[in-house]
Amino acid sequence: MAREFARVGVVGLGTMGAGIVEVFARGGIEVVAVEVDQAAADKGRETLEASTQRAVDRSKLAADDREALLGRVSISTNLDDLADVDLVVEAVPERLELKAEVFAALSKVCGPQTIFASNTSSLSITELSVRTERPHQVVGMHFFNPAPVQALVEVVRTVVTDPEVLSDVTELAVSLGKSPVVCGDRAGFIANNLLFTYLNQAVGMFESHYAGREDLDAAMRYGCGYPMGPLALMDLIGLDTAYEILDTMYRQSRNQRHAPAPILKQMITAGLLGRKSGRGFYTYAAPGSPEVVADNLTPPPPGQEGGDHRPVQVVGVVGTGTMATGIAEVFAKSGYDVVVRARTEAKGEGVVAGIRKSLEKAVVKGKLSESGRDETLARVRPTTSFDDLAGCDLVVEAVAEDLEVKQAVFGALDDVVKQGAILATTTSSLPVVECAAATQRPDDVVGMHFFNPASVMKLVEIVSPITTAPDVTATVRAVTASIGKHPVLCGDRAGFIVNALLFPYLNDATAMLEANYATADDIDSAMKNGCGLPMGPFALLDVVGLDVSLAIERSLYMEFRVPGFAPAPLLEHLVTAGRLGRKTGQGFRDYQKK
Ligand SMILES: NC(=O)c1ccc[n+]([C@@H]2O[C@H](COP(=O)([O-])OP(=O)(O)OC[C@H]3O[C@@H](n4cnc5c(N)ncnc54)[C@H](O)[C@@H]3O)[C@@H](O)[C@H]2O)c1
Repeated sequence: MAREFARVGVVGLGTMGAGIVEVFARGGIEVVAVEVDQAAADKGRETLEASTQRAVDRSKLAADDREALLGRVSISTNLDDLADVDLVVEAVPERLELKAEVFAALSKVCGPQTIFASNTSSLSITELSVRTERPHQVVGMHFFNPAPVQALVEVVRTVVTDPEVLSDVTELAVSLGKSPVVCGDRAGFIANNLLFTYLNQAVGMFESHYAGREDLDAAMRYGCGYPMGPLALMDLIGLDTAYEILDTMYRQSRNQRHAPAPILKQMITAGLLGRKSGRGFYTYAAPGSPEVVADNLTPPPPGQEGGDHRPVQVVGVVGTGTMATGIAEVFAKSGYDVVVRARTEAKGEGVVAGIRKSLEKAVVKGKLSESGRDETLARVRPTTSFDDLAGCDLVVEAVAEDLEVKQAVFGALDDVVKQGAILATTTSSLPVVECAAATQRPDDVVGMHFFNPASVMKLVEIVSPITTAPDVTATVRAVTASIGKHPVLCGDRAGFIVNALLFPYLNDATAMLEANYATADDIDSAMKNGCGLPMGPFALLDVVGLDVSLAIERSLYMEFRVPGFAPAPLLEHLVTAGRLGRKTGQGFRDYQKK
């Protein structure tokens, strides 16, 4: 029988504390909130009243219910008022000594059954628990900001937490309409640990000029469906807060990837804290404003970089698979003449049929006219001869992901395509410079990494090895924008932007699961609910395919030799066992056979 929580205490009525009070009171629980002095207590009450009034104004709460909710809350400046509560949640500032003092004082005031919970984001629950005389009754209860809105609550256990206490607190969170997850006591818990490692890596890419801030952010938004890019998110969180969390993580893990990127310290020292100070990675209209304004790092729009551009009207596509078909369709739809080189006539006709089918769907949905369909199809010309690509201004290679095969294609293109044309590869994992080196014109070779399905996904990573001429990169950026895609520029390193940021994070999640730190369901839920990601890491790995993921992780590891990039053994074992994800019916999870 789960424990009754009729009365709870909250210590600290700041941003988080006031929100936590609201969550409990909304759930019908009597709350006693304690602040440090009367002024802070009054401020806390104002926050609570304003937040609940907003809920009434938005018709999320009835006016009567608001009155009842406020009637359940009493606010004091004396910890002694917490003598008879069933649970206390501490939400005072993030300083170990301060929190430890609060818990030591609570130990003397509260009855022996009272559970103590801390809302700390990064401090050790174990260290706090030993400052009480009841370590087995201490847990983390990590709410997210704003607490009344965010569903995720990380319930943190230590090695001595009583299992009943853990399940009681978890059930309480469920009864309050939250989605709790349970995890061990590691700095950052689940969501921040995975999130900040990724954010720190993105900051490192910016710092090393691997890609620009707009491009890093657009890559993760358009490539992964993230609600915000990493640098915009850093600005929202605050660089000082992010630094503290990373620093705590690093001190505990000694993991180099948690060591805050050096530029963070410099920016903080210079007062660039993010949105709150009006400047961080971006510049804002005013301190606290969400509106980004242009500054000296803002890139020119595609096509307006200055310098030369090459004319592009006729586009060649080499290959007949999923990507080649999608890419040919996208170019033809945008008015380019497209020559598709296939190995056989049947394969060439297959591409045309594939494009026709896709266009037909658009006609049925009323998104394309019949004449638009016919004109688009008339622009696509299949051929089996490389010679027919001679007059192309741009050729996009999309054959099998095999270096020898691609190099042979580039050799053949080099023989026939007119001088001055741009030769692009859509490889997702091979070095673009290897394709460039297979020609006598490496300056003209560039990567154009489309995402699947090419007709839908907006992102194209434009990969320029050290050999690529600047006008080639600029031309391809403008051409990409002209076909309705979002170009981002990056260097020629394994994983480009998206995979280089995505797969280490997926690997970290796998290692977390392997260490029995939390369950797959809880890790997925934490990343979906806490970070607003479209899918949790294991759901995503199962969709991508574990064999494909393993290959990408291996290539990242081989390129960077960062210890944390080495694929987690659990992934290797699942692949060896033939559990490849959704496509085989089993991966991290089991799926119903279709
Ligand atoms: N802000 C976030 O996004 C977020 C999210 C999750 C967890 N947290 C964690 O929640 C905790 C609180 O953060 P916050 O953002 O609400 O901070 P805050 O500064 O807004 O609020 C802290 C409150 O505690 C009060 N306080 C200080 N000493 C006290 C004492 N001895 N007794 C009673 N009250 C005292 C302060 O007057 C202040 O009102 C921190 O541990 C933080 O890491 C923050």
